[in-house]
Amino acid sequence: MSNNLLKGKRGIISGALDSNSIAWKVAERAHAQGATFTLTNAPIAMRMGEINKLAEATGSTIIPADATNMDELKNLFTQSTEVLGGKIDFVLHSIGMSPNIRKNIPYTKLNYDFFNKSIDVSAFSLHKMLATAYELDAMSEWGSVVALSYIAAQRTYPFYTDMADAKAVLESIARSFGYHYGKAKKVRVNTISQSPTKTTAGNGIKGFEDFYDYADKLSPLGNASAEACADCCMFLFSDLSRMVTMQNIYHDGGYSNTGVSDEVMAMMRSDNA
Ligand SMILES: NC(=O)c1ccc[n+]([C@@H]2O[C@H](COP(=O)([O-])OP(=O)(O)OC[C@H]3O[C@@H](n4cnc5c(N)ncnc54)[C@H](O)[C@@H]3O)[C@@H](O)[C@H]2O)c1
Repeated sequence: MSNNLLKGKRGIISGALDSNSIAWKVAERAHAQGATFTLTNAPIAMRMGEINKLAEATGSTIIPADATNMDELKNLFTQSTEVLGGKIDFVLHSIGMSPNIRKNIPYTKLNYDFFNKSIDVSAFSLHKMLATAYELDAMSEWGSVVALSYIAAQRTYPFYTDMADAKAVLESIARSFGYHYGKAKKVRVNTISQSPTKTTAGNGIKGFEDFYDYADKLSPLGNASAEACADCCMFLFSDLSRMVTMQNIYHDGGYSNTGVSDEVMAMMRSDNA
């Protein structure tokens, strides 16, 4: 379904690794809503080659960039404005990675070099993207930047280890930069706190399957899918949300405001039977 919500808008979409990626669904939806955009990911992720299919389907140019590298980000924004023919109206930050999680290191024994890497890739990269766009004056007034977060920024989820800290920083950067960019250029910055979603990053977390089911049973609407998340991004990229900035929007089927559900109570009873 298309309402041409993003007709005439130019964007940059990061983080589409394969067809399960949230960013992949965002790109498909943005294309359907009439946007033109470039796709970007870390050069190493290009090796899988999957992103070429998405580029073909959406008529997009791929511009590789490691989101921790300022030179590569500068190239990303400069080339994107050239390829798309003007300033950028929306940016999706859909980037996360923890070497501590990859190596199964528990929170009480974090490797600090890895910890730095987790926060650099998963949080500072948002600041670096915003600072690059700001410096180059690459975004249109009323432009919109959205980054993806998780509720572990507010509450403890033991298996999420240092990504919880990274998400807390990410959300804070959205608020802080949102203030400065809003004042200077009316550019909006928000995060979406998304339900557990079956993607490469999601499945990399220990016990993800069990937790996915738990969250699904706790949420009155069930877990929000990647496609639904993409729809929420369309709203935030569009002019319909022009006064929404510096927010963390829970896109989780009601999970964040639910103490317990009948389904979870029933699970507890059957465990004790
Ligand atoms: N899957 C979930 O359960 C879930 C829930 C809430 C939030 N999120 C967040 O959604 C975002 C997207 O993740 P996803 O679930 O679609 O998984 P994904 O694995 O498909 O996407 C993560 C992306 O980050 C990219 N990336 C890693 N290091 C990078 C770097 N240095 N430079 C540029 N890109 C880099 C990867 O190549 C990949 O494309 C992440 O921020 C993630 O934390 C995911």
